[in-house]
This record gives sequence, C-alpha cells and structure tokens, in this order.
Amino acid sequence: MATDTWNPAQYERFRAERSRPFFDLLALVRPRPGMRVVDLGCGTGEFTRVVHERLEARETAGIDSSDAMLAQTGSLAGNGLRFVRGDIRDFASATTPSTASTASTPSAAAVQAVLLSGAFDLVLSNAALQWVPGHESLLTALTARLAPGGQLAVQVPANEDHPSHTVAARLAAEPPFREALGGHVRRFDLLPPEGYATLLDRLGCGEQHVRLQVYGHRLASREDVVEWVKGTLLTDYQKRLAPALFQQFVERYRERLLPLLPDTRPFFYPFKRILFWAQR
Ligand SMILES: C[S@@+](CC[C@H](N)C(=O)[O-])C[C@H]1O[C@@H](n2cnc3c(N)ncnc32)[C@H](O)[C@@H]1O
Repeated sequence: MATDTWNPAQYERFRAERSRPFFDLLALVRPRPGMRVVDLGCGTGEFTRVVHERLEARETAGIDSSDAMLAQTGSLAGNGLRFVRGDIRDFASATTPSTASTASTPSAAAVQAVLLSGAFDLVLSNAALQWVPGHESLLTALTARLAPGGQLAVQVPANEDHPSHTVAARLAAEPPFREALGGHVRRFDLLPPEGYATLLDRLGCGEQHVRLQVYGHRLASREDVVEWVKGTLLTDYQKRLAPALFQQFVERYRERLLPLLPDTRPFFYPFKRILFWAQR
C-alpha cells in the first residue's frame, strides 16, 4: 500500500478553481513589514511563494508531510522562503524548547526546529487543516504560536454533504472495502462557521472574519468531479487499499456518483468552503 498518495499532477488539474479560495484567503491577511510566516500543508509550494512575495515577508516556512508534493518546491525556495517536511500536528504540539529534544521522529524535530526559533506574525493554511482532526485543540495550539498582533488565516473545504463526498463515505462502509479499510471512513472533523467564530473569540482574538463561501466551479462535465476528488479525498482511500482494490473503489464510485449528477456540459460543481481570519 502506498504511504504518500498525493499526486501533484492530479491535484493541479484544477489549479484555476483551487486558486480562487486561496486568493480570497490571502486577501484577508493584513500585510505588515518584515513578517514571519508559516504555511501549514503547503503542498507544491506555489501558493506559499505567492504569500511570501505578496507580503514581502522576512521569512516564510512551508510545512508539508508529502514528499511528492514537496518535490515540486525545489526551485521555489530562497530569499527567506524554505520548505520543511513534517506534520502539522508536530508543529502544533511543540510548545517549549524542551519538547524539541524529545521529538520522536526526524520529521518532528525538523518541524519543531522551525517553531522554536520564535513566534509567527502569520500562521496560514489553505485546504489542509481538514486532514487534522480536533480543531479546537489544534487552533488553540496554533494561536499560541502567534506573536502579539499575529494573524491566523485558514481555508478548509466544507463540502461533506455533496454526493461527491457522501458516495465515497457510503462505499467505504460497504464490503469489500469496509473489511479492507478496517472500518475507516474518511470524515473531515470540521466545526461549523459559528463554531470557529466562537472558538476564535474564546482564544482571545480581538478581531476576526469567518465566512462560508460557495465556489461555483464550471467543470467540462460531471466526469471531472471524479478526477477532482481523486486528487484529494480519494487519496485517503488509495493510501489504505491495495492498488487493485482501490481501482475497484474508483470504478464503483464513478458508477454510483454519475447518475446522481446532472449530465450538463459544462457541469456546475458547487463547492462550500469555510474561510477564517483572526488577529491576536
Ligand atoms: C489539498 S492540498 C493543499 C496544498 C496547498 N496548501 C494548496 O493550497 O495548494 C493538502 C496538503 O496538505 C498536506 N497535509 C495533509 N495532512 C497533513 C499533515 N498532517 N501534516 C502536513 N501536511 C499535511 C498534504 O500533503 C497536501 O499537500
């Protein structure tokens, strides 16, 4: 079974559509001189580079756990921008210099080294925190990483109730996939928008902006929804299933999903996302 199923080429097929929420997120950030920035789940690093350049940041670190995604960042680093292989959870859990010395893996040590060199003026994450469960404790830890006046800017997909996601969840709970997956069904453990607003207030953020936005994507046909989801949600099942069984999963997914979607060209794919920004 593959451990790293992120495929930059598949993910980038819908680059234009994925860019819109990123630029909306970046527009929420208030530029300050000489910012120190971290981008959690930076993927191929292209957006991290945009953040770094637009904000004219002093220092920006992109953190991601996928070698395949990070392999694309090679030519982007430099001028204060760097990329680190590591887990967002390690970044969130490192609180004091003493935790660095007890880092359990080289990846944790690398991430903690980034953290321990000081506080951040901006913690940004675009389309990645949905993969990390426990948002209350995660955001508590992330806001603790902020310097006074520091900003948190996050965008997460919130389209769990669309057939593109419900069909995958139902299929995962059926044989033979249920047995092979050991009962695992990928659900994204998000708070509702008002839950993020309440949490950010409780965490002492004096200013905040939280919204649910529907992005209307015009895809060539409904078939493209399968391609879209293969680049994101389905990577989680790909990681856990043998290649032949994953192939069967995708085929059955297609058979079930397509009849539920209108056969129009272009196909309109409404995609909900939560964007939130806060300042300490
Ligand atoms: C949908 S991509 C988004 C990439 C990038 N932020 C963008 O907007 O193009 C999600 C990224 O999160 C990364 N990721 C998921 N869970 C992670 C974790 N626990 N720690 C670090 N990176 C993670 C994946 O490897 C992937 O590159």
